[in-house]
Amino acid sequence: MARYAYVNGRYVDHHDASVHIEDRGYQLADGVYEVVGVRDGKLIDEGPHLDRLDRSLKELRIGWPISRDALRFVIRELMRRNRLHDGLVYMQVTRGVARRDHAFPTTPVKPSLVLTTKGTKHLDADTGPGIAVKSMPDIRWERCDIKTVGLLANVLAKQAARESGAYEAWLVDADGYVTEGASTNAWIVTQNDELVTRHTDNGILAGITRATLKSIADALQLKLIERPFTIAEAKRAKEAFITSATSFVTPVVKIDGEAVGAGTPGPVAHRLREEYVRFADAGELVA
Ligand code: PDD
Repeated sequence: MARYAYVNGRYVDHHDASVHIEDRGYQLADGVYEVVGVRDGKLIDEGPHLDRLDRSLKELRIGWPISRDALRFVIRELMRRNRLHDGLVYMQVTRGVARRDHAFPTTPVKPSLVLTTKGTKHLDADTGPGIAVKSMPDIRWERCDIKTVGLLANVLAKQAARESGAYEAWLVDADGYVTEGASTNAWIVTQNDELVTRHTDNGILAGITRATLKSIADALQLKLIERPFTIAEAKRAKEAFITSATSFVTPVVKIDGEAVGAGTPGPVAHRLREEYVRFADAGELVA
């Protein structure tokens, strides 16, 4: 259990950590967040995550609450205080506290910054048994490229998946194509051994794990095509998998109750996860 959280300049007991009731994140989901994976005391892809935070903030015209260097220090200090070895660092920036009005506050407010950590089990190169996914309509807004805390559509899709016995929801757009998972990016390996994942635009979050995996796939000389695919194509694929900061590369063995390939994790997902773990292990030790 994490003992400390960071809230606007202070390391406080996690149990008592709180923000003001008129924080615009709380009332209007007017904020952004990042989740950075931690493995053996090493942050995975910290730089790209902070770059994406910068982009999300710019898109919403929210300023940095503290400098990037100061944030890097706070991340490390919180990890140290919470003795975090494996898990994640969560950071959230909202526009700040102001009397409720949809429009931006007219007088300057300081953005709110909150950080927490969460310990998880040590993820290794073994993919485990794989997961089931459930397809759900993608009912989100048209700026899914911004990592905002407005996640209600994702929450409802994930919950529907869990209630059906699946781990993740795969979101399907109005044209019948899979955009991404509720909190992960979606991939398949076709019968021609091509890796396919949807291109990035405002329809999905440009995953940091996705980007790293693209480089790994390239180094392994795997053929990668960025294009949309349907649930029917995914069901016919050799393999399917998801990627995210917290799931690394996790095989999808069932889609809407139907087995993908042999119904067990495949060699491509296994190889990519192995390489991803190797990449994560090479990071800088910070805790
Ligand atoms: N989710 N797509 C969505 C909608 C996500 O929320 C996430 C991340 C991803 C994968 O991005 P990355 O590889 O940068 O983690 C894709 C985080 C982990 C979360 O909300 O907990």
